[in-house]
Parts: sequence; structure tokens; C-alpha cells
Amino acid sequence: MNGQSGRQQIFRELVKAITFEQVVETGTYRGTTTEFLAAITGAPVATVELVDRYRLFAKARLAALPAVETFGGDSRDLLRHLSLTRSRVPTLFYLDAHWRTELPLADELRIIAASWSNAVVVIDDFQVPGDRGYAFDDYGPCAALTAAYLPDEIRTWTLLYPAVPSAAETGQRCGAAFLASPALAGATRSVTSLRAATRADPCP
Ligand SMILES: C[S@@+](CC[C@H](N)C(=O)[O-])C[C@H]1O[C@@H](n2cnc3c(N)ncnc32)[C@H](O)[C@@H]1O
Repeated sequence: MNGQSGRQQIFRELVKAITFEQVVETGTYRGTTTEFLAAITGAPVATVELVDRYRLFAKARLAALPAVETFGGDSRDLLRHLSLTRSRVPTLFYLDAHWRTELPLADELRIIAASWSNAVVVIDDFQVPGDRGYAFDDYGPCAALTAAYLPDEIRTWTLLYPAVPSAAETGQRCGAAFLASPALAGATRSVTSLRAATRADPCP
């Protein structure tokens, strides 16, 4: 959670509003967020990491948590695999497998939108329009994590941003976007630490 208390509050409210029966994280790295997601949801967590060295570190670190399953390989492969068997389960996705030249995010979103109807997707390192204090990833032309990057396939999902201003946030102050599937959009209205994208925001 990048040491962000505001972000943690959003998750606390989200899991109060919606009972998630599984969590899927892409980009495990050291497993810090994995641990937080397992603790806050109490649900099974699947997390996938491309780099074996990180996966093995996280696997050892998270060994005491039976609800956590660590996978190796490309995030898109895991999502395709889960879409065959676990897509009916209310799911919280935490998409964080963007690093250096790797940007599987658009594909990840397409796979999720094609299969899950009860899901909330959190994208780390995303631009929060109107608040430049939030950092976001920019990998070059057409590859900045902004609303314009979101693929068409997910355009019917509700886009939300942190309501807490970056000035009141702690830690690394990374931005994030939240996407609720049409079936869960109503439930996110009670999450006061999120705000819906306004017309001024460049909605997809
Ligand atoms: C920003 S770090 C993740 C941080 C972690 N989620 C956390 O909050 O502590 C991004 C990770 O994604 C991994 N990664 C990059 N591309 C990937 C892909 N296509 N599939 C799975 N993991 C990937 C990187 O190796 C790196 O460990």
C-alpha cells in the first residue's frame, strides 16, 4: 500500500461495503501488499510475479499465510486461467504488474472485463486527475497510466478515484484508479473515501 494511510482507509471501506470472496494481485514483488490484502479481506489471495527471485522471496515470506497462493509467470496467463474457473466469484483485483518496460495492464483489464461481472479493480500508480501531488507511471506515448489508457472493453465500469487529497495522504502518495463492474457500482457509493470521476476527468 506504499505506506499510504488514505489508501488503506479506502480498502477498509471497500471490504465493508462488498464481501469479496477472492483477491487477485498482479505483480507480487516482495509480497507486502499481498499480506495487507489477505489480512483486510480474509479471502483467498492469488498473487503472480514474473521474476522468479521475487516470487521465491515472497513465497517464503508469506508461507505462514495459508490463504495466499503465489504463482510464477505472466499476469495475463494467471488471469486467463482464473477466468475459466473463478470468474463467478466476487473478486478484488489489485493490478500492479507494471514496472520498467513491462505494461500488461490493458490486456489484464480486457481479460477481466470479458469474464468477471462482480469485481472491483484497483490500479496502482494511476493518475488522479486534478491532483498533481499523486504520482503516476508514464511509460511513454500512449503508455501513461491515465484514464485515456483504459481500454474500451472496460468502459461500462464505474471509474473512481481517491477522495482524500494527496496533501492529506501519507507514504509514497501514488495515485490509483478504482473500477467497479456494473453489478457492484452501487455498492461503491457508500465508500466515502472514493469519488466518482467527474465530467471534467478524461473518462474512457
Ligand atoms: C511495482 S512492483 C509490485 C509491488 C507490489 N504489488 C507491492 O505493492 O508491494 C511490480 C512487480 O510486477 C512484476 N511484473 C512485471 N511484469 C509482470 C507480468 N507481466 N506478470 C507478473 N508480474 C510482473 C515485477 O517483476 C515487479 O516485481
